[in-house]
Amino acid sequence: MAWKAIGIFDSGVGGLTVLREIVRVLPQEDTIYLGDTARVPYGTKSPETVIRYSRQIASFLEGRDVKLLVVACNTASAVALDALEQQFSIPIVGVIEPGARRAVATTRTGTVGVIGTEGTIASSAYTKAIKRLNPEVAVVTRACPLFVPLAESGWTDNEVARLTARTYLEGLREEGVDTLVLGCTHYPLLKEVIAEVVGDDVVLVDSAEETALTVAEILKGERLLRPTAERGNHHYFVTDIPAGFIKVGNRFLGGRLGDVYQVNLEDETAEGERADEG
Ligand code: DGL
Repeated sequence: MAWKAIGIFDSGVGGLTVLREIVRVLPQEDTIYLGDTARVPYGTKSPETVIRYSRQIASFLEGRDVKLLVVACNTASAVALDALEQQFSIPIVGVIEPGARRAVATTRTGTVGVIGTEGTIASSAYTKAIKRLNPEVAVVTRACPLFVPLAESGWTDNEVARLTARTYLEGLREEGVDTLVLGCTHYPLLKEVIAEVVGDDVVLVDSAEETALTVAEILKGERLLRPTAERGNHHYFVTDIPAGFIKVGNRFLGGRLGDVYQVNLEDETAEGERADEG
């Protein structure tokens, strides 16, 4: 029997931080990743637009017969998860709920900070998820849009990154925050600078780690885990030309990408380009 792959999507390269965790927890699984590089960023777009894009991508991945869909993009998870769950019958995992769960389990002061894109913060999705788990927990949120281009440019350890982090995050600790959710795919790359600004005693929660554990749990519960010791295969699709994705993607993945194919979500024709040609 052929085992189906896990489908993962994001607005671009950011979701590779989630893929990396999934591969670490489930090395035997095949994955199909779609990065919507032609239409990134999602964080500044309206919920209606993000829902429309997310539906197109989910249809594409459903057409590739994936057994479970991971919405790696925090913004898409925040605004489109319900719409996807209504339309598609495969299990769908977003990053908000797992991140919220970890934050609630971690906080001792009862005050959690959440940082994300403008879209994620405006949706209040993390605040709602945290309050559902424990209404007593207070939530302080900040949109940090400039962290996205900084992470993509590799500016994660310089004065610009530090000044940006200080401007966004100063005062969080004074508000009692002892746990900070990195509510955007790109923020794990800025972990060190963020820790420097908020202080070592604030625990940083990476939604990607908890999401990978949730994926493993669901696949196990549904008896869909691939029963082999072999390592899985990983396929990548993007909606713009692959070169930029390949260049930045290796850093986000923490390893080398395999073949990356360009796809047109309207007519679904895929043209190949090898990663090592990029
Ligand atoms: N992937 C997005 C997120 O996690 C960040 C980049 C974007 O704005 O599209 O919210």
